Amino acid sequence: MDRVNPFDPDLLRRRPDLEAPELVAVDAADRLLLDVAADALRRTDGGIATIGDSYGAVTLGAADLTGRSDLRSFQDGIVHERALACNAAEQGLHSAYRSYPLSPELLDGVSTVLLRLPRALDELDELAWTIAVHARPDVQVFAAGRLKHMSLSMNAVLARYFGSVTASLARQKSRVLVAREPLDVPPAAFPRRSGHDVGLDRPLELRAFGATFGGAALDPGTRLLLPHLQGISVGRSVADGIGGPVEEEVIDLGCGNGAVSAYLALSRPDLRLHASDQSASAVGSTRATAAANGVADRVAVSRDDALSALPDASARVIVLNPPFHSGSTVHEGIAHRLFDACARVLTEGGELWTVWNSHLRYRPVLERTIGPTRQLDRTNRFTVTVSTRRERPHE
Ligand SMILES: C[S@@+](CC[C@H](N)C(=O)[O-])C[C@H]1O[C@@H](n2cnc3c(N)ncnc32)[C@H](O)[C@@H]1O
Repeated sequence: MDRVNPFDPDLLRRRPDLEAPELVAVDAADRLLLDVAADALRRTDGGIATIGDSYGAVTLGAADLTGRSDLRSFQDGIVHERALACNAAEQGLHSAYRSYPLSPELLDGVSTVLLRLPRALDELDELAWTIAVHARPDVQVFAAGRLKHMSLSMNAVLARYFGSVTASLARQKSRVLVAREPLDVPPAAFPRRSGHDVGLDRPLELRAFGATFGGAALDPGTRLLLPHLQGISVGRSVADGIGGPVEEEVIDLGCGNGAVSAYLALSRPDLRLHASDQSASAVGSTRATAAANGVADRVAVSRDDALSALPDASARVIVLNPPFHSGSTVHEGIAHRLFDACARVLTEGGELWTVWNSHLRYRPVLERTIGPTRQLDRTNRFTVTVSTRRERPHE
């Protein structure tokens, strides 16, 4: 490893994720996890995998502790994957690890797993199942969290897949659960499935892998938004040069379980969808949802952070139910960052259709960031608006 200085967790940053004075890149649970797992990490002759590392503290800390350069990392969010890559490069540790999808290759031959406990039990369930099936029979799973985000249900989920689950002493409001002795497990429970009456001639089928926002449920804000999307106007009539109509593309930003894309593909044959989410789980769920509704041929899905792969002024319509949290961080800047991305990607006169929690009062932000904003619906809980991208100043 081409190291210049010793690894320093205090130099880790969150970018490209939101940065703010009150938001940290490394926390007490990261530090406790490395301390509790240190002996196992140094002694093991098997592979080492990290799962759910936020910004690199766990993966780069383990690389530093062991001197190894064959660590494997899975992070559901591409924002976290990119932050880890930036931090690794800055600290000369870029060749210490490789990123993997949640797959057999991540865990094949692995005897030590360092896991940051997710908040959702379904996500933990899917991770624990995958580790029990694919890691070595002598695998030890060190799963750390902040006490305020932990519950005894997490021990119960781990106990479904491991014969031994113990807990470390708490330190600085953090704790590590240690799971050993993987059990014979039932067939995979994911993706979860459900069907919803949304006023179409058949139920909207939703599919969800473990880390997908809201699982296979239909988000109540999205339920309010869906019928309004019938008002999306294709704007101009386009022809493909050989006589047939060409569908216009609508972007489903933060596609989650794919509800918006599947609904539009089913109800609007004049549209095709580009669904995008930073979460690997959401991308898998949207693909599964599109297939379950028979519309996979009109729904393209990408894993990206805030449409970073799209050029400026390239989209006419974006639909967004904005996130308000990233992992366990709740911050209004997370939604603002996506509004900024929409402003960049929309053409002049292009539209952002969105639904948000009424108490968040996003309307002035939308007016400022995108342009004139009309309210289409409002309940005590949710507000539906459409914002029109104002002209860009000439440069
Ligand atoms: C409130 S959920 C909406 C999910 C889905 N559209 C629905 O209506 O049920 C917000 C989604 O935004 C995604 N997201 C969060 N940050 C993102 C980012 N930087 N880039 C792309 N997607 C992001 C989350 O993973 C999540 O799936």
